[in-house]
Amino acid sequence: MNDKPLLEVKNLKTHLHTERGRVTAVNGVSFTVSKGEIIGIVGESGCGKSVMSQSILRLLDHTDSVEYEGNVVFENQDLLSLPLSKLRAIRGDEISIIFQDPSTSLNPVYSIGNQIEEVLRLHQKMSKKEAHKKAIEILGLIGIPSPEIRVNEYPHQLSGGMQQRAMIAMALSCEPKLLIADEPTTALDVTIQAQILELIVELNRILGMSVLFITHDLGVVSEICTSVKVMYLGQFVEEATTDRLFETPLHPYTQGLIKSIPKLEGSRHDKLHVIDGMVPSLSDIPQGCSFSTRCPFADELCFNKEPLMETVHAGHSVKCWHYAKINSSEGRAKGGGSKNGTSYS
Ligand SMILES: Nc1ncnc2c1ncn2[C@@H]1O[C@H](COP(=O)(O)OP(=O)(O)OP(=O)(O)O)[C@@H](O)[C@H]1O
Ligand SMILES: [Mg+2]
Repeated sequence: MNDKPLLEVKNLKTHLHTERGRVTAVNGVSFTVSKGEIIGIVGESGCGKSVMSQSILRLLDHTDSVEYEGNVVFENQDLLSLPLSKLRAIRGDEISIIFQDPSTSLNPVYSIGNQIEEVLRLHQKMSKKEAHKKAIEILGLIGIPSPEIRVNEYPHQLSGGMQQRAMIAMALSCEPKLLIADEPTTALDVTIQAQILELIVELNRILGMSVLFITHDLGVVSEICTSVKVMYLGQFVEEATTDRLFETPLHPYTQGLIKSIPKLEGSRHDKLHVIDGMVPSLSDIPQGCSFSTRCPFADELCFNKEPLMETVHAGHSVKCWHYAKINSSEGRAKGGGSKNGTSYS
């Protein structure tokens, strides 16, 4: 295996200047992506998944109220300090991104075909005719009916789900080395969702395309990802291979997310587990462990001192003071106790 990672993110922080002042939406995230890996990033709404994925390509630059810290190294170049002209050559060519909201990334004044063809002509040096043929082929692959007609339509003529598919077609058309997919299938029905996941997995298998797959859907993660990172308030709180994360989740937050997955075989009257409380506002981040305000195991230590990410097994790390006791047979018997009621210090 090539031991040099394709992408190395080191202590990435993204600060945003908002009406509430300066907030830190991504707060010290580090990870690597190797060739051919599919990494899942999961976490509740507002935990910083989109800001993190857009920060990798500096796509928040236009707001000029953004400040990045750390390094994002892709093929020996730090994307955070690279001149914009060089970064543009990487965006959409070597690293593609599928946005959560398709309407933000399609240009309303060009036809869908035109936009895909432009990517192919620019990045794959195809002729106009070749690019047009390939665009129709890609639209068909992505499940767009009558692609030879749809190729000439404009974004406003397509439904939200169709727009999302067109955007996915654009992102995949240049066969990137890394695909960042931010909730790529949110607006799509189950059949199309399955087709698109299959296509991503196929490109991963055939071309060795690496994928950073951002989602709420732990079911999808368990199907396609090699490893998973659990995000909470701009930080990773647990990282593991997919099998290990689902078999032995150690962080109370991860355990809560896994318990919240609806069970197919469950009765309609089964109550869905919900993690207590809400994600705190970025302008009110807890002092110690970021999850302490919602954690049933939190004690004085958790409220006052931030835990470090600790490696508990090769490839499995967790950021929790009490993971060992919580997951001991005694801890499990306590079952979490009442909120803030079980002390482990
Ligand atoms: N342009 C912005 N200006 C100010 N705050 C922002 C901006 N974009 C995002 N945020 C804040 O940053 C935090 C992280 O948002 P982000 O969109 O990354 O969450 P997410 O994990 O992608 O959520 P979801 O699952 O709903 O997509 C949130 O508190 C959000 O309100
Ligand atoms: Mg998001």
